[in-house]
Amino acid sequence: MLYQEKHRPQLHFTPKENWINDPNGLVYYEGEYHLFYQYNPHGSDHANMNWGHATSTDLYHWEELGVAIAPDELGTIFSGSAVADKHNTSGLFESDTGGLVAIYTQDGKSQQQSIAYSTDKGRTWTKYEGNPVIPNTKIKDFRDPKVSWHEDSKQWVMVLACGDHMQFYGSPNLIDWTYLSSFGKEYPSHIGVWECPDLLYLPVENRSKKEWVLIVSINADGPNGGSAVYYFTGNFDGKEFHPNEKPEDALKWADAGKDFYAAVTWDNTEDTYWIGWMNNWQYAGVSPVSPWRSAMSLARKLSLYEKDGDLLLRQEVITAEGNEEAISFPGATIASGEKESYAISDTAEIDLQLAKTTGSSEWGVTFTTDQGEAFRLEIDQQSNAYTFYRNQGITDFSEDFPAEVKGSLHKKEVKTLKAIVDKSSIEIFLNDGLFTATNTIYPEGTITQLELFAVNEAVQVENITWSKLHSIW
Ligand code: FRU
Repeated sequence: MLYQEKHRPQLHFTPKENWINDPNGLVYYEGEYHLFYQYNPHGSDHANMNWGHATSTDLYHWEELGVAIAPDELGTIFSGSAVADKHNTSGLFESDTGGLVAIYTQDGKSQQQSIAYSTDKGRTWTKYEGNPVIPNTKIKDFRDPKVSWHEDSKQWVMVLACGDHMQFYGSPNLIDWTYLSSFGKEYPSHIGVWECPDLLYLPVENRSKKEWVLIVSINADGPNGGSAVYYFTGNFDGKEFHPNEKPEDALKWADAGKDFYAAVTWDNTEDTYWIGWMNNWQYAGVSPVSPWRSAMSLARKLSLYEKDGDLLLRQEVITAEGNEEAISFPGATIASGEKESYAISDTAEIDLQLAKTTGSSEWGVTFTTDQGEAFRLEIDQQSNAYTFYRNQGITDFSEDFPAEVKGSLHKKEVKTLKAIVDKSSIEIFLNDGLFTATNTIYPEGTITQLELFAVNEAVQVENITWSKLHSIW
């Protein structure tokens, strides 16, 4: 095990030292998934932004490779994306088989979009000599370009966050960009700024058609305070995005936790995968960890499913098969008002399968430490509510950290619960990823137990499996 610090994640990407935030430049290329990220090579606060770099062959084990793109006279390197320019549309490559192109914001006198290219699988980058490719003088917040190939209109499409709206641009070659349209001013929320967009084309379960999804990260005014990710479903016609949602029913949250932000998808993959920054701008700068600061979430596979005429996101978490020792417990019936305890570890995957309940049940699980701290998660089917109590452990570094973190169950009866515990975070996936909640925790002790409890009626558990997950490092 490479990392021994008390709260150091063993299953999630963290840099050896220093500050990280948003995932950037996610692209699959010649057998590797690339994870670039906002990185301060000189300290553990948000400053001197560079792109750090890590690679993986399975979206779970990561190798950290150091700084990939460093600041220059146009500014520091803010968030952005990367694409596999496989047909050399940019003309930047000598070979017809192309290479990688990164598209990112430079934060200088103003925010502008630049590009760089790599012929050695993302290890080294050459900045395009005509940067910026999209200059800016007027808009204060003008950043986080996410580029993908739009097959129907045969062009690269960029979606860019512009404070209170998104702008779309099109290009034949990743260098010359034409403004296409703007979207979002009349949609919530504008308490904070819009950031880190993404435009996805996702399969819908049990339907042959795919649907468009626009991802919006808002850096304040999330449902549990601070930053959060929400999404629209709709249609993108090569010029404009037309949402299904009306402004009053627009806020479909991607994750019901406090610590899942700036999530974006990998380019050049068959299925769609994304990863988020596992922190919140409310307290990221004072998170009580060192010498690193912040982790990424686990990667998740995305699809859509239909519920009462609405399209909702499903997120199936990626963990490594065969990286664990699985222990199964027999099924159990927990009587109303009772609880059952199971010994687990603090790097664990827990899977519960429930038999049918009456639909009015209130039940949950509590993760407890050897020092008696409790992190309780409650499911209340009647009021359609999910609550995670994050009031224990180290919480005094920010008044925004201790919280009862709430989410909506989308009127779905909970039949499966998956929890991934990793030292200082708990990620929850209900009903095979139809609902997710990602929260960091900073216990004084070590998580050693899981308690399953029933509140108002018996809960019948068909199967409980827990796996001790080995460190990815
Ligand atoms: C989102 C964000 C982006 C920006 C980057 C700077 O978390 O604010 O909008 O590009 O972080 O690090």
